[in-house]
Parts: sequence; structure tokens; C-alpha cells
Amino acid sequence: MSLHDSMVADFTAEINNTDSIQGLYNVKVRYLGKKGLISELNKRLGEISPEKRPEAGAEIQKVRLLFEELYGRKEAELKTAERNTTLFSEKLDITMPGVSAPSGSLNPVYKIYDEIISIFGAMGYDVATGPEAELEYYNFEALNMPKWHPARDMQDTFYLSENVVMRTHTSPVQIRTMLKQKPPVRIIAPGKVYRSDYDMTHSPMFHQVEGLLVDKNVSMADLKGTLAHFVRQMFGSDIPVRFRASYFPFTEPSMEVDMGCVMCGGGGCRVCKGAGWLEIAGSGMVAPEVLKAVHVNVHKYSGFAFGMGIERIAMIKYGIDDLRLFFENNLKFICQF
Ligand code: PHE
Repeated sequence: MSLHDSMVADFTAEINNTDSIQGLYNVKVRYLGKKGLISELNKRLGEISPEKRPEAGAEIQKVRLLFEELYGRKEAELKTAERNTTLFSEKLDITMPGVSAPSGSLNPVYKIYDEIISIFGAMGYDVATGPEAELEYYNFEALNMPKWHPARDMQDTFYLSENVVMRTHTSPVQIRTMLKQKPPVRIIAPGKVYRSDYDMTHSPMFHQVEGLLVDKNVSMADLKGTLAHFVRQMFGSDIPVRFRASYFPFTEPSMEVDMGCVMCGGGGCRVCKGAGWLEIAGSGMVAPEVLKAVHVNVHKYSGFAFGMGIERIAMIKYGIDDLRLFFENNLKFICQF
């Protein structure tokens, strides 16, 4: 075996043992590079006698061409293999069904919130707002609840400072609105309210909607008609509404508003605790003390007001018995509505 034959054998063995392009390239450098074996042989041609030199040179050239050919073949083979690996690993089945992005949904409280706004909006009510951190004066005093008033105990108040509270109801928006706007006034004021309370039917934060209408010749009949219309729109046409005498410092007279139980149709069930009625709002004719506090002429104007718990409406509408569910942000619950 000539020197050249053994070189070809070595070269072939080396490239066959290589399974990466980089490894193959290293072999090439060693044999075909500037300082590789072939160059080395060419340099040594000078040592050979001039007569034999052309033949020897031609022989080296032949080996070089053979190396290049073998190299080229192996390189093509490796590149194909590499591309196949990539293609396989990045394989994409475009016939597979897509994954749809989950869409968000409104908390049921805000569904009802929006529905209330649209029902009263259709009756000509504007939406009014006020701050959640409220002056004690607007939350209590101006609503005929001076410091000593026992009714303050009805609402467990969060105090922020001596005269700032987290509003315990939306009624202070009545005061803020009437201080800005002369009658006629026709607003609802939905929003968050705060009381230190927590159980199945109470949460430290919940939502109320206040209603206020002040104009000439406003009567209790207007109040009842308005709330009856609201109940019909929200729950269905055959649900009755009734007033029950009650007490609030800022209305006179004051009434609790009940609607017929949607569960049993009035016969009495677990939801209405056998009464056939569900309490849905506090209401009354705006007390003269309140109208005076906002400089409205009580001889010319009268008004009605009501306040409803929005969660309460949502619980009745969707048949939910634990108020805390609204605030736990469990998607399985929230996304049902
Ligand atoms: N603000 C009262 C409450 O939170 C509800 C109410 C509003 C009653 C307006 C009468 C008139 O309990």
C-alpha cells in the first residue's frame, strides 16, 4: 500500500467517524488546509528529483481531488441529516384544532350594575357619583344623623380620621348632587360602600344604588310606581311590590320595599323564609331636614329616595345564597354569568 493509499484510507475513516459538520470541517483543515497534509506534501516536492517531480505532483493533486470529492459527499450527507432533524423537531401540524384564548367575563355584580343603570336611564335618570372616602358630614350629619343619633349604630362605620369615613351608603351622593344642582333632580348613584361586617349576607365592601328624585308634586305613588317598574324590568312582569313602614333618619315617611319571592311566587319557601316576599330596598320621601340642609325650598319641592344593595339584586336574580362568592374571584363561579 502506497503512502497515498494509506492517507486516503485514514481520511476516509476519519470522515466516516464524524457526525457533525464542525467535526468534518476539522478533518478538512487537517488534510486540505494551508498547513494540512497535502500542503505539507507539496512543500516536500522539492526534495524529489526533478524528473520524478511532475509525476509525484500529479499524484498529490489526484489525492487532493479525491479528498475534496469525499469531503463534498460527506458534507452533503450531514447537511441533509441536519435539515431533517430540524424539520422533524419543528414539525407543525397545521390541521390540528387551535387553542382558543379564554375570554374574560364581567362579575355578575357589574352585570346587574349595568342593567340597573340602563333601566333607570330609560326613565330619565342620570348617573351621579361621589367619593368612597367621604366626609362624615355628608355621610351622616347632612342626612339628619347628628353624632348622638342612635341610627349611626345601624351601620358599622370604618373611620379614616375624625371626620372622614368610608361611606356606609350611597346616600351622601344625594347631598352632593343637591348642593350642585337645583331641582328638578333625577339621579341614581351606584357604587361601592363599606361596613365592618362579614358573613353569608354581609361583606365589608358591597355595592348600592341610590335613587333620588326631587321635583314639584312628587308623591309616594311616584316612588312606588318607579320601583314597581324597576322590578318588572329586572325580574319579570308579574312580580308584585309592596311597602312596609320602616325608619331612616333621612326620609319621612320611610318604607322598606319588598318584591314577591321569585322562587316560590309568593307561596313561601326557604329563600323568602316562608314570607313570600323579599326585601330589596330602603326608601322614603326625602326628609325636610335633608332638603333644608341643601337649601331646597320644602314648600315648593318634595322628593323620594331609595337605596338598594346591588349584590342582593344579583343574588335574587341568579339564585345565589352566599354573598361572599361575588368577591372570591373563583373563575368557575364568575364565568357562569
Ligand atoms: N341609605 C340606606 C341604607 O343604606 C338606604 C336608603 C336610601 C333608605 C335612601 C332610604 C332612602 O340602608
